[in-house]
Amino acid sequence: MPMASEKHVLDLDNPEKLLRVLELMLDQAYLGIVFVDPDGIIRFMNQQYEELIGVDRKETYGKHITEYFPDSRLPVVLKTKEAELGWKYHYKGRETLVVNRIPIMKGNQFIGAMTQCIFKDISELREMAGKLDLLETKVQKYKRASNDLLTPKYNIDDIKGISEPITRLKDMALVYAATENTILITGGTGTGKELFAHSIHHASTRSEGPFVCINCASIPDELLESELFGYAYGAFTGAQKNGKTGKIELADGGTLFLDEIGELPFRAQAKLLRVLDEKRVERIGEVLPVEVDFRLIAATNRDLHFLMDQRNFRQDLFHRVSTITMDIPPLRKRIEDLPVLVNHFLQGGSIRGMKITDNALRSLMTYSWPGNVRELKNALELSTCLVKKGDPIDTDQLASHIIAGESKIFHNIDRDDLKLKKKVKANEVQSIKSALSLCRGNKSRAAKLLGISRSSLYNKIKQYSIS
Ligand SMILES: Nc1ncnc2c1ncn2[C@@H]1O[C@H](COP(=O)(O)OP(=O)(O)OP(=O)(O)O)[C@@H](O)[C@H]1O
Ligand SMILES: [Mg+2]
Repeated sequence: MPMASEKHVLDLDNPEKLLRVLELMLDQAYLGIVFVDPDGIIRFMNQQYEELIGVDRKETYGKHITEYFPDSRLPVVLKTKEAELGWKYHYKGRETLVVNRIPIMKGNQFIGAMTQCIFKDISELREMAGKLDLLETKVQKYKRASNDLLTPKYNIDDIKGISEPITRLKDMALVYAATENTILITGGTGTGKELFAHSIHHASTRSEGPFVCINCASIPDELLESELFGYAYGAFTGAQKNGKTGKIELADGGTLFLDEIGELPFRAQAKLLRVLDEKRVERIGEVLPVEVDFRLIAATNRDLHFLMDQRNFRQDLFHRVSTITMDIPPLRKRIEDLPVLVNHFLQGGSIRGMKITDNALRSLMTYSWPGNVRELKNALELSTCLVKKGDPIDTDQLASHIIAGESKIFHNIDRDDLKLKKKVKANEVQSIKSALSLCRGNKSRAAKLLGISRSSLYNKIKQYSIS
């Protein structure tokens, strides 16, 4: 007894049965199809076409196409043997059809032509175009939304510095990245908090997911909630018609970077806390919450303890976000990073390949850098504009407040920095270490860079036990 599959093959080997199957298939097609021989005689019509003209198809076989379609252009196609695609055709003054007329060859032999009726009614085409339009709008919408889904711009190797605190923080960042904990990054403006946030996401198991940034300081209070939590269809007047996906929802599967969290309005703080606890977000005006799986990295250059004292930052939220805290020290407290950073900035960007004199570098190292690394980067960029092509940056090209750095230091120091002796010693040690590392251990060059004699450098190395 033949196997089931063999039986099917046998069935299709029988030309009559195969023809019947093809006929059935054509009857199921969405298109209306009519086939005529080279003389314009109807030889086949599928069910769709039969329904369209409302005549039993068997009756039409053997008759000329113009008997049913007096203004048919099939006779023209039979003559020209050129296809006509996407033409409109007014059928008996009723519907406007959209048709293709296609000549058919069997090898070199011309065997006839067919009409495919693509849309029985042009309104179907309009409907389809409308759907495509809607689809296009949706694609545009998602494209726009995905622009917000940032891939991180930096990774851990982009954080330059050789100081003990930076090296330690970079190591810790990699350890923390592997966890799911919320991380709070604190530190003065321009210290590199954003750099760390990007790097942590990049090194985490969520790196393939979205990295969504929102800067609480740059969005007006009244808009911040809708940005963060999104809103439902028709939530309020002026809202987008279809509602809006909030940044938290967009961060699903990835990381939400909440920059300047200290600026988050009080009401939104309570809402954020609930989202963090419940791992669910409720769009404004929506009843059903949506599950979200994101890791929060928050950053601030504000003193959150001070804000809590002022009742501007919620204690419960602080405890929730500060399980892991990374405090990035100001540049002046890790001044040995400065030569490395200078070197890094002078190699890249608009100031590629520029040099700097020892004197200028010494001035940079004695300045307090209240704007930290960002200020350093900007200062170097500014100096390069003043330098003649091919010359190195010298003190003349540094801003006067940088050269007169000492006086500025006292405007920007912390209370404990006022212990002058301690500060002078710490600064000396840091400067010597940096100079030595910059001069790759060459003490004569380092002494010159520091502006002291070789013997006093030796004395200080001994006095401070610098290795
Ligand atoms: N260690 C570093 N290595 C290389 N570039 C750095 C480093 N730290 C900061 N930068 C650069 O300094 C600039 C400021 O850094 P970033 O934006 O991360 O600072 P921030 O701490 O977020 O500051 P703010 O509190 O003002 O937002 C950026 O251009 C960044 O690339
Ligand atoms: Mg920042």
